[in-house]
Amino acid sequence: MSLLRLEAVETFIGQFHILEGVSFEVAEGSIVALLGRNGAGKTTTLKSILGITPPSGGRVVYDGTDITGWRSYDIASAGIGYVPEHRAIFTELTVEENLRIAERNRGEFDAKCDLIFDLFPDLKRFAALDGGQLSGGQQQMLAVGRALVADNRVLLIDEPSEGLAPVIIEQMIEAIRRLADHTTVLLVEQNFVVATLLADRYVIIEEGSSVHSGAMADLAPDDETIRRYLGAV
Ligand SMILES: Nc1ncnc2c1ncn2[C@@H]1O[C@H](COP(=O)(O)OP(=O)(O)OP(=O)(O)O)[C@@H](O)[C@H]1O
Ligand SMILES: [Mg+2]
Repeated sequence: MSLLRLEAVETFIGQFHILEGVSFEVAEGSIVALLGRNGAGKTTTLKSILGITPPSGGRVVYDGTDITGWRSYDIASAGIGYVPEHRAIFTELTVEENLRIAERNRGEFDAKCDLIFDLFPDLKRFAALDGGQLSGGQQQMLAVGRALVADNRVLLIDEPSEGLAPVIIEQMIEAIRRLADHTTVLLVEQNFVVATLLADRYVIIEEGSSVHSGAMADLAPDDETIRRYLGAV
């Protein structure tokens, strides 16, 4: 059974009809990549699941429950986490404090911190620095580290590899794999290679509609679909 299912989701932002029918399923334990060109509606899809831009039509079903219309707070409390596009961390708190307040279920904090510091050695080095003093890439690591601490059942991650140097992208891939050991992941990823390495399945969004989906392993050799929906890669 799918843990998360979107059925013909439609979303307006102001008077603009941004999502015009997005449907897909995310199986428990899988990593699904949401692909599509700039402006296709990938971020809006994540925000619609989270109730940040609530759908005006269709349904979002989570663990068998229709959560369409729920408040974002209740959706988050039900176990759906979010790492937004632009690194939501607390700039006035230290790295360690940022991790500590992300903890949802008490206990195992030290073990989780060890894992995060193992995955991202830079965070260990700068554990006592304020979040705002970190580089953009390090803030990205901290945002994903916070998601690792939080024990979500599903995690929505928007472009985790954006702007990262290749060596840091490798650390990020490893971190998301570790996360996915315990968490179902829906990932927006513009870096096709990263998407290929991480995802089990993909969904392509084009002009606010889901137009194509399948097994990630079948997409990499499918030049025509890649060219048609994603442009040259
Ligand atoms: N607050 C807003 N007001 C009006 N239009 C918006 C707003 N937010 C997003 N849009 C529009 O909705 C469409 C989808 O945006 P969205 O951010 O979901 O795209 P995306 O697929 O995440 O793109 P990118 O790859 O560039 O991040 C775009 O045309 C965008 O201009
Ligand atoms: Mg986006």
